[in-house]
Amino acid sequence: MSDETTREFTTVGVIGLGTMGAGIAEVFARNGYSVIGVEVNETGVERGRQHLEHSTGRAVKREKMTEEQQAELLGRITLTTSMSDLAGADLVIEAVIESIELKKSIFRALDDVVGPDAILATNTSSLSVTEISTANSLPGRVIGVHFFNPAPVQDLVEIIRTVVTEPHVLADVQRVLRDLGKDPVVCGDKAGFIANTLLFGYLNHAVAMYEGKYASREDIDAAMRFGCGYPMGPLALLDLIGLDTAYEILDTMYKQGRDRLHAPAPILKQYVTAGLLGRKSGRGFYTYEAPDSPVVV
Ligand code: 3HC
Repeated sequence: MSDETTREFTTVGVIGLGTMGAGIAEVFARNGYSVIGVEVNETGVERGRQHLEHSTGRAVKREKMTEEQQAELLGRITLTTSMSDLAGADLVIEAVIESIELKKSIFRALDDVVGPDAILATNTSSLSVTEISTANSLPGRVIGVHFFNPAPVQDLVEIIRTVVTEPHVLADVQRVLRDLGKDPVVCGDKAGFIANTLLFGYLNHAVAMYEGKYASREDIDAAMRFGCGYPMGPLALLDLIGLDTAYEILDTMYKQGRDRLHAPAPILKQYVTAGLLGRKSGRGFYTYEAPDSPVVV
């Protein structure tokens, strides 16, 4: 094993280039790391590429980055459909959809790809990191790193240590995240971790209030923005998170904790079934022209 105090991390793999994975890849590339982004097929690679170009293009438009810096940043990210390209990675972060079987199959497959020193992390928001770790032959190197949306903006990252996570793995991950300018917090392995456990009861309550026609979506959101100083109201935030993701998180937390606060409001499931997923599909509680556009209707 490497010396934990001097170990250098230069290459980071990110598996899954949806909203969170692409955001995580951007954060590492912004900070000089070489990033290998893996997607399941060319469509996924293209979606990841567009996400990265759009997000960094926004920084160029706002004059936070020059076009040369954008090109350099994107040049540090290699996109591929082949897991074997992760062979030289020091750290791999899995950010695929919330499916325990899919995540376990990835951690199983990583055994044959990365070296024994590589740290393996999952960006799961509510699944058991411990269960995911059992799929790998070295569960002590598996840890949770839960970024918040939008990953390039939000400073918080929750680090989830399991009962078998090696202390040096935790220390290395804390150091790398601080190096990215993030503010990591550490917690144990319980569905929802710290922030989602507290946040999603509130978000779910807002959906129930809207579903019960107690107040309009605009007034529910305005109450929390202007009365409590939240940057977004709960329904607009759910559209940003994605209603499918939000439903999965609530459902998992409810099944594990049986706290009624987390029993998903029925309308949430109906929206998901109807394909109203929030910003990413163009419509959720509000309607959008493009994923990052202001609200239209
Ligand atoms: N991707 C990348 N950067 C983005 C972005 C995006 N999707 N959205 C906004 N930004 C950047 C902008 O470029 C801007 O950067 P700059 O300061 O360097 O110019 C900065 O964020 C501020 O953006 P705006 O001025 O356009 O808009 P706001 O000031 O209204 O901020 C916001 C937008 C950052 C989304 C803010 O409204 C916010 O913080 N909302 C709350 C988000 C939140 O609560 N996230 C946590 C969700 S829970 C979660 O992720 C857990 C998971 O498990 C579900």
